Amino acid sequence: MPLAIVILAAGQGKRMRSHLPKVLQPLAGRPLLAHVVATARRLQPAAIHIVYGHGGEQVRAALPDPDLRWVLQAEQLGTGHALQQVMPAIPPEHTVLVLYGDVPLVRAETLAALVARAGPTTLALLSAVLPDPAGYGRVIRDRGGRVVRIVEHRDANRKELAVAEVNTGLLAAPAAALGRWLSGLGCDNAQREYYLTDCIGTAVREGWVVEAIVAVSAAEVLGVNDRIQLAEVEAAWRRARALELMQAGVTLVDPGRVDVRGTVSCGQDVVLDVDVILAGEVRLGDRVRIGPHCLLADCTLGADTEVRANCVIEGASAEERCQIGPFARLRPGTRLAAGVHIGNFVEVKNSVLGPDSKANHLSYVGDADLGARVNVGAGTVTCNYDGANKHRTTIGAGAFIGSGTMLVAPVTVGDEATIGAGSTITHPAPAGKLTLERSRQQTIEGWRRPQKKPK
Ligand code: UD1
Ligand code: CA
Repeated sequence: MPLAIVILAAGQGKRMRSHLPKVLQPLAGRPLLAHVVATARRLQPAAIHIVYGHGGEQVRAALPDPDLRWVLQAEQLGTGHALQQVMPAIPPEHTVLVLYGDVPLVRAETLAALVARAGPTTLALLSAVLPDPAGYGRVIRDRGGRVVRIVEHRDANRKELAVAEVNTGLLAAPAAALGRWLSGLGCDNAQREYYLTDCIGTAVREGWVVEAIVAVSAAEVLGVNDRIQLAEVEAAWRRARALELMQAGVTLVDPGRVDVRGTVSCGQDVVLDVDVILAGEVRLGDRVRIGPHCLLADCTLGADTEVRANCVIEGASAEERCQIGPFARLRPGTRLAAGVHIGNFVEVKNSVLGPDSKANHLSYVGDADLGARVNVGAGTVTCNYDGANKHRTTIGAGAFIGSGTMLVAPVTVGDEATIGAGSTITHPAPAGKLTLERSRQQTIEGWRRPQKKPK
């Protein structure tokens, strides 16, 4: 049977106490809802429907993918009411899988098992056994262990509250039956809402089998209702990514202190020190070492490259054997060839540095093309901006730029040229020669320091 996935994402999430709609709260830097959509896609469904409401256009704008089908739930009258809004759009012969926009860690394998279990007279729901089930709906079974209904926390009596098996909210059932059960829902409960969970009781009364699949890991089904749970989900995500890295041959000095907020591919014997954040698309070659407190976003580092403490690297690449930092900043468009050294308080932007070039201290290299073996002295600045436009600086192979040089772009320094310290270079500096621009030093004879006036 073709699969239709419905993601419920209309709720406000009052308990977050935020202006941002709950399903847009970030997990690993991406909205909760984006995680659920990504997992849904892995099942290759015929359609993904998202029920939205609170936060309206803001939610839609956060996920512009053209294939998502949006259904407005103008008033949030409960999870059952939410699903009702989308049923007319789903052909009766489809299997419906219901996901929640605030349950982001569920794995595609688990969902596939759930869908496989649903059948012509079987509703499959995902449950979990939690050490602290507070807040969740409880799965009530009869003496024979058969699921008979779900009771919400707020509607549960003392005996029911003691049940540790909770409803994750995720379920799969044939569309035709689901539509029938939903149309019979009432709202006679503590929250005056139309509960999707009441469909379970109805299905049982109709003689259906309700199969509760117990999730293997409780972390997978954590729901996010407040910022405490958001932090717990983030921690679970971090932990899972850390385990993946270690399984792939990466040493993590402290697995609890690495944040993966994107996709990372690593060679062997990579070492990540504490408090490293990896965002976007990061590729690290064999034996890359990253020092403590570094942010690496959308970057590629070649084998044996070392990044020392406190560096920020975004949209940059370095080939093998580079040394970066401590305290270096590589901005988008930076390309370092093999063996380049970028030292402390050096900023590089939209520049290419040839093999074995060095800028070891306190420099700004922006919109520049450097050949091989260039030495950039401390305090050198490429003056790339004239207040209106950006201009490039070109430095030939083997050039030596003395400390404190201002290179006013557009400007060219020839191969093997030497620039005297403190120069402001505005004209081409020819290859192989010493060029300097400096007023003559003078010493004033007979000069005296001013004295304090006597009181
Ligand atoms: C729900 C379940 C509960 C389960 C828990 C698991 C019901 C009645 N209860 O409770 O059994 O243990 O999830 O996390 O289903 N939503 C809408 N429209 C609405 C109301 C909610 O789209 O009118 C969406 C929310 O955006 C959210 C999801 O449905 O993504 C769940 O809603 P929420 O209010 O968080 O339900 P819970 O009280 O957590
Ligand atoms: Ca919830």
